[in-house]
Amino acid sequence: MDENEKIVEEAVEAASKAEDSKELYEAKMQFLGRSGTVTALMKRMKEIAQELRPAFGKQVNALRQRLETMFSEREERMKEQEMAKKLAAETVDVTMPGKRAKEGTLHPVTRVKNELIGIFAGMGFEVFEGPEIENDYYNFTALNTPADHPARDMQDTFYLTDEFLLRTQTSAGQIRLMEKKKPPIKMLSPGRVFRSDDDATHSPMFHQMEGLVVDKGITLCDLQGMLDEFARTMFSQTSKTRLRPSYFPFTEPSVEVDVSCHVCGGKGCPLCKGTGWIEVLGAGMVNRRVLENCGVDPDEYTGFAFGMGVERIAMLKYGINNIKLLTENDVRFLGQFKD
Ligand code: DAH
Repeated sequence: MDENEKIVEEAVEAASKAEDSKELYEAKMQFLGRSGTVTALMKRMKEIAQELRPAFGKQVNALRQRLETMFSEREERMKEQEMAKKLAAETVDVTMPGKRAKEGTLHPVTRVKNELIGIFAGMGFEVFEGPEIENDYYNFTALNTPADHPARDMQDTFYLTDEFLLRTQTSAGQIRLMEKKKPPIKMLSPGRVFRSDDDATHSPMFHQMEGLVVDKGITLCDLQGMLDEFARTMFSQTSKTRLRPSYFPFTEPSVEVDVSCHVCGGKGCPLCKGTGWIEVLGAGMVNRRVLENCGVDPDEYTGFAFGMGVERIAMLKYGINNIKLLTENDVRFLGQFKD
């Protein structure tokens, strides 16, 4: 009897030390397993006098019963504790606010570029893209700007070799297209251009949009009609355009195109510096030398061309005062351009 009590005490202590189901099971096996304490006691039956054996058997069975009850109660509790722990660890607070995925926005330059393509595609223009590393011939010579031409000074060029350079103007695309395609031509050529120039309104890399129309009987009136349509769609329904004489080697005559100020409507304001007009692009009638360089007969065909800075249009349209904002990519700035 005394020994039973001692065994029960030991078993309770072993069970209490167990920290999880596995350890508890190991403790139980130590007492109730095949080579455990209780089995060992049963084996001692043969050492006991015949008449005492039933009483001894009863004692051992009673012990087994007590141990089994004790262990199964503890197992039950252990399972509950473990389940509670698991549930606590997996708790999800469904009232917590979710993490919102940040939605990106299109860059203002991309926006304006897409808008320009949309406007001109609506008038039947096709998009043609030329290379950013250009041959001197396409960027200058074929555009009636030979090596000794003073107009080369108008664009500070990044030369890569004597022959190759980073294109300074998308006008190079005019030549590349006319070499491939015979008139009628209605081409729009967007792309990056590069110049060694850097201040609040100039960046060493910027985007241009070139336009070229070549067909029989094209005049400067066609150019201005098309520009009026462009200005009304891009700026405001009441926008007007004005042509001023200018000079580009690849056009004759050449014009600088102003659009009436969309902020003050032409009355004069800080944006248009009080003039009521804003300069937006260069244009002109394609110089007959350029047509000749591309194998197009200038007595049969005429054409107009225009080129504009996409950043400049974006700055005017959205009232952006420093071109650097367009390359810094600060999300606080970019996030303001939402549909
Ligand atoms: N390529 C000129 C520039 O970068 C812009 C330009 C002016 C393009 C007149 C033209 C044009 O096609 O006709 O300054």
